[in-house]
This record gives sequence, C-alpha cells and structure tokens, in this order.
Amino acid sequence: MKKSKYISFIVLLFLLLNSCDYNRRTTGWEYDDTMSQSQAFESYTLNSNFADGKTMQPPVEGTIPRGIKPYSYEKTDEDRAVAAATLINTIEPNLENIKRGEKMYGIYCMQCHGEKGDGQGSLYVNKKYTYPPASLLSEKMLANPEADIYHVTTVGHGIMGEHGTMIQPDDRWKIAMYIKQELQN
Ligand code: HEC
Repeated sequence: MKKSKYISFIVLLFLLLNSCDYNRRTTGWEYDDTMSQSQAFESYTLNSNFADGKTMQPPVEGTIPRGIKPYSYEKTDEDRAVAAATLINTIEPNLENIKRGEKMYGIYCMQCHGEKGDGQGSLYVNKKYTYPPASLLSEKMLANPEADIYHVTTVGHGIMGEHGTMIQPDDRWKIAMYIKQELQN
C-alpha cells in the first residue's frame, strides 16, 4: 500500500472509531455543532432584539389568529346571561362529539367538578383546592342551557378561571354537551 493511502486509511479509521461513543448521554465529538445545536433563540430565553428582552412575543395588538373568532362577552353576570340566551351550539349532538366532550371534561374540569359533576372533584376532596367547586347538577345548572356552560368555560366565573385560551371553541361546546346530556341525565 502506498504511504498516502495508508495515512488516509488510518485517518478514516480514527474518525470512524471517534464518531461512536458508548456513553449515550453525550454527543461525542461534534465536527460541526451548528448542525445539531440550534442557533435560533429558544422560546424561554432572553433576547436583546426585543424591547422587553423576551424571545416569545405576544401577537401584534389588534390581530386575530386564523380560525379563532373573538369572544365578545365579559366575565360578568350580565354578560353570562346574555351569552346564555344568545349563543347557539351548532355542533351535532352525536355519540362521537359527546365522547370527545367527556374526554375534555376529564382533562379540564373533573379534578374540581368531579366525575359525576357534583363538585366533589379530587382536588377539592383532597383539600388541595379549598374553595368548593360549584355542583353542575344544581337546580340552577339543570335549568341553564349549554351556552351558559360554554360561556363560563370560556371566560370563567367568580373564583373559577378562564379556559378559553386552553380549550378550542368546538371542544368547549362538546364539554357543555356532555354535561347537559350525560352528567345531568
Ligand atoms: C380549579 C378548579 C376548577 C376547574 C378546573 C373548573 N372549575 Fe368550574 N368552577 C370552579 C369553582 C370554584 C366554581 C365556583 C366559582 C364561584 O362561585 O366563584 C366553578 C363554577 C363553575 C360553573 C358555574 C356554576 C354555577 O352554579 O354558576 C360552571 C358552569 C363551571 N364551573 C363549569 C366548569 C367547566 C365546564 C370546567 C372545565 C372546562 C370547569 N368548570 C373547570 C372550579 C373549577
């Protein structure tokens, strides 16, 4: 073998052996770390490009995300009554949608309002949350329409916080549907 070939063989062998590493917690030897390590700003890091020094910027004022309709009712008793009387659920009350509502209720409401909707959720029973969550089976709630639950879910009520920024509108209707059609029946 020629000397240069011999040297390239050794170099290749060296690179090959070096690129493997028995310790899976380290990246080993990186030839070009910009390929594996992002040069972009991570969401929660400081960023001197913006006046407030944050990387994550809120949406520009006055803009509305695609597919989201602004909600025009406030967290007041008056608006709750108007929303309950005005908003209309256009989602079909079929088994699939009610099942989806049940799933979402299990994720976002059950810990406080309970599996049955009686206000005895695990957070309250275990005294992690001390304010009694309202029963969704009260006479008042039996009489209130789906739109009333939709409104409370969207903006909150009293001590209860809003869920409008966490749950998609369709899913909020499905939760209301599940409460009315399954829990209250
Ligand atoms: C962290 C606990 C908590 C979670 C989670 C929660 N709630 Fe509530 N909810 C409450 C409390 C507490 C009240 C009573 C608020 C008050 O009276 O100030 C309440 C009140 C309500 C009311 C009004 C009842 C009435 O009699 O006026 C409705 C409707 C309701 N919640 C539905 C929901 C739905 C639907 C979800 C899930 C999307 C949910 N809540 C999630 C704690 C919670």
